Amino acid sequence: MAIIIKTQDEIEKMRIAGRLAAELLDYITPFVKAGTTTDELNTLCHDYQTQVQGCIPAPLGYGNPPYPKSICTSLNSVVCHGIPDNKPLKNGDILNIDVTVIKDGFHGDSSRMFCVGEVSPIAQRLIKITHECMMIGIEKVKPGAFFGDIGYAIAKHAENNGYSVVQEFCGHGVGRRFHEEPQVLHYGQKGTGAELKPGMIFTIEPMINQGKRHIKIAADGWTVQTKDRSLSAQWEHEVLVTDTGYEILTISPMTGEP
Ligand code: MF3
Ligand code: CO
Ligand code: CO
Repeated sequence: MAIIIKTQDEIEKMRIAGRLAAELLDYITPFVKAGTTTDELNTLCHDYQTQVQGCIPAPLGYGNPPYPKSICTSLNSVVCHGIPDNKPLKNGDILNIDVTVIKDGFHGDSSRMFCVGEVSPIAQRLIKITHECMMIGIEKVKPGAFFGDIGYAIAKHAENNGYSVVQEFCGHGVGRRFHEEPQVLHYGQKGTGAELKPGMIFTIEPMINQGKRHIKIAADGWTVQTKDRSLSAQWEHEVLVTDTGYEILTISPMTGEP
């Protein structure tokens, strides 16, 4: 299966799905505070997307074993795919919320980092550098570039700052299906991999660890943790390759910031 080039009509639907994912993250932002449980965040997001936005939560029932919730909540040393539970958030926690909405058959997939109360400078730095890694990857996107250019730039920035890049999970093509070709690695060599072409849409979603890159998967079949229990951060955007560069489809309507 080749990488899908979206039509103008499909691109318009992906813009709508992307905006809805970003609006859902804007909606949940004020609820992320000490004392709230990730289960409560899950219920709020589920109800908002189904009842207000008219969307379907793509994570619910996805994969094998079927993912049990409507969002992913990855706390502190959880790298990705954390399952919402009934434990209250506490001051100093760092949390990634990853939402994927389906609107009119198309997927809007985005995630952000959230700070609970006052977070250590060490954790703040990890969050900031991880956002820079995502943006440095996005800035490589233009026709004629290669997927390896993106991965190379991300890993270089992470490693220059003393961090490591998770290799087992990656970005992905996205559209009518949640995970399409290609796999968008967050490490690699310049000039390698497929060539970027206008109309491709994919995510860039680096997972950056404070310690070593190695991970382990919990007995629930989903929760991914750093093996050394160091902190991990992740940000995710959907990106369209345009004729001259890129368009981020999941920019926050609230702040206008990527
Ligand atoms: N949203 C994740 C991604 O960015 C995938 C989560 S799969 C789920 O690709 F089943 F856990 F939701
Ligand atoms: Co994704
Ligand atoms: Co996601």
